[in-house]
Amino acid sequence: MAYETIIVEIEDHVALVKLNRPDAMNALNLQVFEELGDFLSSAQTNDKVRCIVLTGTDKFFAAGADIKMMSEMSFVDVFTSDLFGEGGTAIQRNRKPMIAAVAGYALGGGCELAMMCDFIIAADNAKFGQPEINLGVIAGIGGTQRLTRLIGKSKAMDMNLTGRFMDAEEAERAGLVSRVVPCKKLMEEAMGAAAKIAEKSMISAMAVKESVNRAYETPLAEGLLYERRLFHSMFATDDQTEGMNAFLEKRQPQFRDR
Ligand code: HXC
Repeated sequence: MAYETIIVEIEDHVALVKLNRPDAMNALNLQVFEELGDFLSSAQTNDKVRCIVLTGTDKFFAAGADIKMMSEMSFVDVFTSDLFGEGGTAIQRNRKPMIAAVAGYALGGGCELAMMCDFIIAADNAKFGQPEINLGVIAGIGGTQRLTRLIGKSKAMDMNLTGRFMDAEEAERAGLVSRVVPCKKLMEEAMGAAAKIAEKSMISAMAVKESVNRAYETPLAEGLLYERRLFHSMFATDDQTEGMNAFLEKRQPQFRDR
């Protein structure tokens, strides 16, 4: 599939995916989600992809769902198209680590898309918001759910009810983003983190992702049991032997994803 709304570059086992609708501040339409979904599906079986970085420009990650597109849609249109529901599911089905590198605006669906990634690295000019209330609607792909789990009820209510934007510093304090760096350093930082992840055993990386995500779906006792069993299962891999031997032999491990 040839992409128009995203640009994909794969190098050294890291796929850099840039949202590419600059005239509309990367506003998200059905095509963006279709193309993202298509790329992520193909990435699952592509050995050249071990980590994914999703980004926009240095001024905007994405300013939300495309308001022009939505303004022409009826209830039946959004209900039957499931407006981004299917695309969101495709992103969730992605088992490879995925980092959002956010500079500038990440609003509405843009903030929600960033939250679908495994973690967010923000530039110091990043602004997060769920301003859908200003349009007479509410968030539709995680802005009242993922955001609440990430930053708690009080701040999530504040963001969704007032529609105010949160800057990078507050976002880090609140736990929405994992790190904040100067805007000029954003891509270096995100690509560096991705390169580090790409060096690990893919089995461990996938298991980490699955296990952390379980924390959102299960009671603690179940989550702990799930984690323990996954931990036990790692001892069936060559990478466990290699990782531990490498430590004892004071050398770098050579993981083979086996
Ligand atoms: C379509 C958008 C857009 C959007 C910006 N643009 N956001 N087009 N959908 N979400 C377009 C503008 O129309 C304009 O196009 C160009 O991008 C530049 O935007 P300006 O407003 O002129 O820039 P600025 O004054 O710098 O303001 C930036 C901004 C503002 C604060 C980000 O654009 C803004 O508030 N955008 C809307 C944010 C929003 O409400 N997002 C939530 C959407 S609802 P022209 O052609 O005029 O130059 C949503 C629901 C998700 O996301 C649920 C999914 C199921």
